[in-house]
Amino acid sequence: MYNSRIIGLGKYVPDNVVTNDDLSKIMDTSDTWIQERTGIKERRWVKEGSGETTATMGVEAAKIAIERAGISKDDIDFIVFATLSPDYYFPGPGVQVQNALDIKTVGALDVRNQCSGFVYGISVADQFIKSGMYKNVLVIGSELHSHGLDKTTRGRSVSVIFGDGAGAAVLTREEDTSKGVLSTHLHSEGKYAEELSLIAPGMGKRWVNDILADNDPNDESYYPYMNGQFVFKNAVVRFSEVIMEGLQKNKLSPKDINMLIPHQANLRIAQFIQKKFGLSDNQVFNNIEKYGNTTAASIPIALTEAWEEGKIKEGDCVVLAAFGSGFTWGSVVIKW
Ligand code: UT7
Repeated sequence: MYNSRIIGLGKYVPDNVVTNDDLSKIMDTSDTWIQERTGIKERRWVKEGSGETTATMGVEAAKIAIERAGISKDDIDFIVFATLSPDYYFPGPGVQVQNALDIKTVGALDVRNQCSGFVYGISVADQFIKSGMYKNVLVIGSELHSHGLDKTTRGRSVSVIFGDGAGAAVLTREEDTSKGVLSTHLHSEGKYAEELSLIAPGMGKRWVNDILADNDPNDESYYPYMNGQFVFKNAVVRFSEVIMEGLQKNKLSPKDINMLIPHQANLRIAQFIQKKFGLSDNQVFNNIEKYGNTTAASIPIALTEAWEEGKIKEGDCVVLAAFGSGFTWGSVVIKW
């Protein structure tokens, strides 16, 4: 029996900074509204024509993670790629990473769990490593939201929140089972699938030919939809539950957490969780003010920055927690 352990982290965000004031020039919104409701000051949006995509950003983050892991791309045994914004409807971007990094013909799995995608990805990698099937697994979370947002006043409640970027982690086999990923906890509640969703184009309801045939300029079905207050209320409950579940499984209490990395959905949610568990500012990492909500990329970007800033040390108890579309949610408890 083995554990898995993170040995390399990397992030990539596009250069193009879009401030709240920039958005207020293209839609009816304001820096005050966005900061008060979400904590976001700016986000990165890929520049039109730059050629950057979900896959290319994921590749850049992966290169850094592999280098920091001190291994070669030839040592990677499996790729897991989490995103809701793939370059193609199919195939998913995992194979694009295999090709771009010239990795051997190892398996590449695409994870479709939105904001929880990276946590689900870590859990998959952990199981493959624990079972002894693979030694080194690359897990990527990457999103290019900006091309798909309704950047008019109609879409403002969603479009001001989301940003582009990527993060990656390399996990390896750890023979000391008191170290590394201690446990992962995954959940879903599909009755709320449409409360945070992008319905079209999809084979179930509206495919491209339906959209073209209707030719309706007011059709909103191909933009993301979020029932914001409902999602918020569920998020605070599920975040709390799944963090507690992880702590209890490992006989830990909130005071044992050295660093909580919550999915960066809304600073208000993170602050609620921090208060509920009685955590200090040093025990919770937030960077939503710089990047907005980057969905599957938000945890690996935040984890990378926390590690780069020296806020995660060997032996620390690190907890990752996510909630989002599906609804899906999950947590990971790590002894660093
Ligand atoms: O990552 C996955 C998980 N996601 C989340 O957990 C997000 C959860 N939800 C939220 O974070 C919040 O619900 C939002 C930040 C999305 C919205 O904040 P809210 O406090 O729930 O605002 P609201 O949707 O209730 O809207 C309040 C008002 C409305 O105007 P009226 O009806 O009161 O006149 C909106 O039309 O704010 C208006 N509004 C805006 N005003 C300026 C909505 N979006 C904007 C905007 N700028 N961008």
